[in-house]
Amino acid sequence: MNVETLRWADGKLEMIDQRILPASFEYLAYDSATSVADGIRRMVVRGAPAIGVAAAYGVALEALRLRSVSAVDFTNGMKVGFAVLAQSRPTAVNLFWGLERMRRVWIGVAELDNTTVAQRLLAEAHEILAEDIRINRAMGRYGAELLPDGARVLTHCNAGALATAGWGTALGVLRSAVEAGKKISVIADETRPFLQGARLTAWEMVQENIPVTLITDTMSGFMMSRGEVDAVIVGTDRVATNGDVANKIGTYMVAVLAKRHNIPFYVACPLSTIDTSIASGAAIPIEERSTEEVTGFRECQWAAKGVMVRNPAFDVTPAELVTALITEKGIVHEPNKERIANLFRH
Ligand code: MRU
Repeated sequence: MNVETLRWADGKLEMIDQRILPASFEYLAYDSATSVADGIRRMVVRGAPAIGVAAAYGVALEALRLRSVSAVDFTNGMKVGFAVLAQSRPTAVNLFWGLERMRRVWIGVAELDNTTVAQRLLAEAHEILAEDIRINRAMGRYGAELLPDGARVLTHCNAGALATAGWGTALGVLRSAVEAGKKISVIADETRPFLQGARLTAWEMVQENIPVTLITDTMSGFMMSRGEVDAVIVGTDRVATNGDVANKIGTYMVAVLAKRHNIPFYVACPLSTIDTSIASGAAIPIEERSTEEVTGFRECQWAAKGVMVRNPAFDVTPAELVTALITEKGIVHEPNKERIANLFRH
């Protein structure tokens, strides 16, 4: 299956509307930094690497939109575009990584005319998209080695093609293992409250005939205690330099359960998701989303009106619970400060 989560068509960025999957499959078109930021905020596109790619296109679209204005207005407009995109979601570091990469390209060609700058930025966005797929393939090859033939692998949230430019990080590892001839079955937990597991991971696996069983988030401990889980693989939104991992809310719970049952807990992590500026997970900003996501789903609201609600969208799994990080540069067993620093040395 070749899901194009984001694609360039007719001078616009098109993104699959992930809010309506799997009931409907539809692309929405974007033509400015503000509209892309809105798409990220509203979760049309989600998943750390996909958000980074979308933000890069947001910058390029803004440059294209502003190409006929004066040099001063172009500079000011671009600065606003960068700021709007940076405010769209706080936790996935790929957003800021993508913006920083685009900013460096802009600075490098800032003396040239607007049209040339816009073309250069668009070329960089295309390269970020293509590179993301190459990186996912590389992680997949390394990660597949960790999975025994016949493995039953639990995953949380959606770290698949839909969360990236294609192939996926955690689901990319599963795809690569299947491609290598291994018999793999997937246990997808629902991932309350936004249901990325039930709606997106289950859909991706069903499309490809990779056997997948859906469970609610509360069932993973039971499955592990019955010996029905051989490994856990998740993606990540931000990894600190000590190996602490931020990922979708509920990941920490799964990691604790995996430790209790002696099940390996793997994190598929492109280098763009490692935040080299922070010492530990305590410094990772955790997004709080709307209370309506917890009190119901879409039109159906089931909780008592007036109840107090919390909705942190991510949690942090301490490095000590992580068996290994799977990166495009290889496997980092028992990640710590030194091993993570090594990834950036060569
Ligand atoms: O809120 P979301 O859907 O953007 O959260 C996504 C996740 O937590 C993913 O697991 C993570 O971004 C890794 S995606 C390869």
